Amino acid sequence: MSVKIIVGAQWGDEGKGKVVDILSKDTDIVARYQGGANAGHTVVVGDRTYILHLVPSGIFHPNVTCVIGNGVVVDPIALFNEINQIRDLGIDIKSRILISHNAHLVLPYHKKIDQLFEQSQQKIGTTGKGIGPAYIDKAKRCGIRVVELLDKNTFKLKLERNIIEYNKIFVDIYRTSPLDLDTIFNEYQEYSHLIDEFVTDTSLFLNNSIRDGKKILVEGAQGALLDLDHGTYPYVTSSNPTSGGACTGLGIPPTSVTSILGVTKAYCTRVGNGAFPTELENELGNEIRNKGNEFGATTGRPRRCGWLDIFALKYSIMINGIQELALTKLDVLSDFDEINICTTYQYESKLLKTFPTDINSLNVVTPIYEELQGWKTSLNDINKFENLPENAKYYILRIEDLLKTQIKYISVGSRRDQTIFID
Ligand code: GDP
Ligand code: IMO
Ligand code: MG
Repeated sequence: MSVKIIVGAQWGDEGKGKVVDILSKDTDIVARYQGGANAGHTVVVGDRTYILHLVPSGIFHPNVTCVIGNGVVVDPIALFNEINQIRDLGIDIKSRILISHNAHLVLPYHKKIDQLFEQSQQKIGTTGKGIGPAYIDKAKRCGIRVVELLDKNTFKLKLERNIIEYNKIFVDIYRTSPLDLDTIFNEYQEYSHLIDEFVTDTSLFLNNSIRDGKKILVEGAQGALLDLDHGTYPYVTSSNPTSGGACTGLGIPPTSVTSILGVTKAYCTRVGNGAFPTELENELGNEIRNKGNEFGATTGRPRRCGWLDIFALKYSIMINGIQELALTKLDVLSDFDEINICTTYQYESKLLKTFPTDINSLNVVTPIYEELQGWKTSLNDINKFENLPENAKYYILRIEDLLKTQIKYISVGSRRDQTIFID
């Protein structure tokens, strides 16, 4: 039995999709525990690139059952777009996707209000996928669960109640058009039929699987610094991507977790607003963006780019309990003469001891860098640590040393075979 949690250690888009796909080869189950279609997880299989939003990244291995846990917010439109695309590829998904009966739905009013909220004073730069509002309704106890979509009367009653409330906001506050109950109800009756075969008690399934000795990968979406509680609030997502969220988001006990793997890029990116101390708002940043193809997998927005932030990673390792790391996109740094890593922050002439999550401090800290020499050689065809150029080896070993955490996987390209496994 093993339950390995895979978390994003930065601000998302670390390459979790690739890492989960690779590790799925020897896995029985891959389970998502939070977030929704705001996630964009890229998996490259052969010469094809797939972007997954809700379906876990184990789907391309026929041995894997994919679980969408109770902590995920499910947009049926996005889900069936994705499921249909996967089916069209000839991938057999029968009995391979299980959706928690307790997962909450993302409905049209969530997406509409998400986009309207973004016109307010405090722009978060959300993906506009209705994620925050769906979690607001969950906490407010007026959310609609997947199981309720299957019951026509309950669904209609709750949908009507919510649409009446939301329409007041749309019309009276935002002076925009209301939503039509019957249109939405009828459209979602279709999804009720489609989703039925996938819905189950996934917590029970996972706990039985743990008892039966199965191998389980738990796939985080977003990243630790976007965590609602531990991230750079308020510029965060509305769920808990950190490892603690895995247990509540799946209904499995903390005692069942056997290991925690963090995924980090060899540099940093962030999409959306909020503090980013090591951001490079210059030609270097543009170079990283272009070489790393740093454009959002969900929204296509250019990602903000900067140097690797060891100080933030130390914090991420602490709150997640990360025991091992996957370092991705090392190849992207191949052409630089010098590469910087941020080891600490200076705040009001003092060096900080811990990562500050309050946005006012984070906005004004000065990153302190250590400069390392680049390796100026392509890494794309290297699949053994010993074949890496000396300066690349030094870069990796220096990161390990500063973080006191072992790097077990090094990714030097988006393909499966562009991965170095370290024993
Ligand atoms: P996720 O959200 O954490 O799954 O990451 P995304 O899929 O949003 O973004 C990662 C991007 O980097 C994708 O386009 C991947 O195909 C790509 N990628 C992953 N690992 C590597 C790597 O080692 N090198 C390069 N050049 N690209 C990579
Ligand atoms: P993956 O799983 C990167 C960011 C948005 C915005 C903030 C809140 O692919 O790593 P939301 O729509 O969640 O309310 O937006 O969070 N964000 C992500 N950034 N990768 C993601 O997912 C993200 N999901 C949300 O850009 O700043
Ligand atoms: Mg992504």
